[in-house]
Amino acid sequence: MLLKEYKNLLVTKEDKILTISINRPKVLNALNQELLSELKTLLTLITDTDFKDLRGVILTSEGEKAFIAGADIKEMDGLEDDKASDFSALGQEVSLLFSKVKVPVIACVQGYALGGGCEMAMSADWIYATENAIFGLPELSLGLIPGFGGTKRLAQFVGLAKAKELIFTGGKWTAADAYKNLLVNKVFANKEEMLSFAKKQLLKSERQSALGVFYSKKTMEESYFCNMQDSMSIEKKSFSAIFSSKDKRTGIKAFLNKEKPNFQY
Ligand code: CAA
Repeated sequence: MLLKEYKNLLVTKEDKILTISINRPKVLNALNQELLSELKTLLTLITDTDFKDLRGVILTSEGEKAFIAGADIKEMDGLEDDKASDFSALGQEVSLLFSKVKVPVIACVQGYALGGGCEMAMSADWIYATENAIFGLPELSLGLIPGFGGTKRLAQFVGLAKAKELIFTGGKWTAADAYKNLLVNKVFANKEEMLSFAKKQLLKSERQSALGVFYSKKTMEESYFCNMQDSMSIEKKSFSAIFSSKDKRTGIKAFLNKEKPNFQY
């Protein structure tokens, strides 16, 4: 079901890791409405997929030059003014779906990650990049502003003042800048090394409780914008929910018996 044919996406699955590769390299993988709708369909299916079948997702793209060079500027040129809200809502909906996926999602960025491309990368749980990656939200140079969650997410990653500086000045960050500013978790010499490391990291979760990964992600996503008291309540609820799971009994028993746990949820 997940692996059906898409016009603008290549979807593959190996060792319970699903790789989504954005596939419009001729236009530097620019995001048009058709592509965003395909991503929405795929991500909706993924959010319904159980840990038995899936342990992690990698978001990447075809071609060396760009991860994604933003929303499709040619398509936006023909978009009626009153359709802007729907277009923004579609991109935002896709970006929010990544946080609903029950397993970790890693964005693997090579080349340009600009505008909507940077926004899609920031929708993943974390970002890896190759040395040639370039990040930026250059929408203001088009007379626009970021519309797929970038005004919020960039500030979450790097802090409000750094985010304002990058957006207001149309600045571009190299992979090294992005790493220094905490937008990127690790930088790699090439795409092959990056994808291989991402897979290894995702497979590590196989030795963890999948339910634990799910509850941690859900708790961190839900509590991020809450005050401390509400965040503690959300954590307490998740802690209590997992406490009655088979995985908790397996993990604690294995520790006490000095054995490796075999988590089954
Ligand atoms: N939309 C549509 N087509 C795009 C595109 C985009 N975002 N970015 C690149 N392309 C196309 C180019 O038009 C070109 O097509 P043709 O060969 O048919 O002319 C092809 O991809 C190759 O691009 P360039 O020739 O421009 O390549 P370059 O190496 O000279 O420059 C670049 C690369 C610096 C990334 C440049 O393409 C660029 O600046 N792209 C636009 C970046 C941008 O402004 N992104 C923000 C978009 S707005 C947005 O994303 C809004 C939002 O938040 C919702």
